Amino acid sequence: MWKRSPGSQDFNPAQYPKIIPFTGYSASDTKKMKTSLAIPVKKIAKSKLPEINFSNLAFGKVISDHMFVADYVNGEWTDLRIEPYASLQLDPANAALHYGQSIFEGMKAYKNEKGEILIFRGDANARRMNESAARMCMPEIPEEIFMEGLLQLVDLDRNWVPTGKGSSLYIRPFMFAMDNYIGVKPSDTYKFIIFTCPVGAYYSKPVNVKVETKWTRATEGGTGAAKTAGNYAASLYPALQAQKAGYDQLLWTDGKSHSKIEESGTMNVMFDINGTLVTAPTHTGTILKGITRDSVLQLAKDWGKPVEERFLTVSELVEAIENGTLKEAFGTGTAATIAHIAKINIEGKDYTMPSKGPEAFSHKVLAELDGIKYGEIEDPHHWIVKI
Ligand code: COI
Repeated sequence: MWKRSPGSQDFNPAQYPKIIPFTGYSASDTKKMKTSLAIPVKKIAKSKLPEINFSNLAFGKVISDHMFVADYVNGEWTDLRIEPYASLQLDPANAALHYGQSIFEGMKAYKNEKGEILIFRGDANARRMNESAARMCMPEIPEEIFMEGLLQLVDLDRNWVPTGKGSSLYIRPFMFAMDNYIGVKPSDTYKFIIFTCPVGAYYSKPVNVKVETKWTRATEGGTGAAKTAGNYAASLYPALQAQKAGYDQLLWTDGKSHSKIEESGTMNVMFDINGTLVTAPTHTGTILKGITRDSVLQLAKDWGKPVEERFLTVSELVEAIENGTLKEAFGTGTAATIAHIAKINIEGKDYTMPSKGPEAFSHKVLAELDGIKYGEIEDPHHWIVKI
């Protein structure tokens, strides 16, 4: 469809339509889809790869060689390209820096034993990014551009995908305003970038969390469901207070009554109460629609485990801990994967979570998700795209 003319090195923005209908990717059509958009590539002069110690990867510190970039100008996405990862030049009046029109996504690619790269649910990330874009008054990024940019970038930097369970290539797509203007209004121009980083675990051990009943992450009508920079900025101060008190993360409660558990910092949260999986619903617009959350709920349903998407109150949680019906609590997220919760602080009192045997749901679901992501077991829901 939108191929460059053979031999041409020039990139013609007019080749790209404003909105491209997208029907979704599956492993079987990857090869066909990959050739549908010709993205010019400028390769790095000297790869940074030989300098990287893959046996000791801190999360998010090491960035791969290339990035995918597209610019939104005059109402359309133009100038799609892959180029060496490098600093950006920004005008001090850049609107994103002042008013926060900035959204992002997080997903991961894995390497199987044959050296194939498997990307987990990238199409779901593309859709969620467009939901964030709508809330933040930003343009949609057509799913085809999102997916093609992603697949071709990861293919080019495929040697950056680490091998071995627990390690992966974290993929960070993001979009931000590019107008240089100090008045408050939606920007007319934007930049969309994808870069990647080889990563190990985000949390290297079970986490201790504190139930937050003073500060608020999100309220109904706010931006809680959007993956937008400001939500994370607003969480920093309360999270820091919790960290100073010895906790890794917060368990956020609703902004109105502070009595209902919503999500944790960097992840959704789930509780196994007497065999039923309980997690906050997403209809209030205050919870991030986690893709790992959705995958875990799907697997639980596949296995016939009762699932309740409802708000668990803080007092119900205390009761379930005290009467022994709480079997386990864990976070779910792309970076966090399945993060076991070891301790919960509620209104100043620490509650230690029950110790789990290998039969715990969180262990089973983590093993199943890893099996799918590393291509070791069947992928019944077509979550994987292979490169
Ligand atoms: C993710 O899990 O991908 C996130 O975006 C969480 C965090 C690293 C900000």
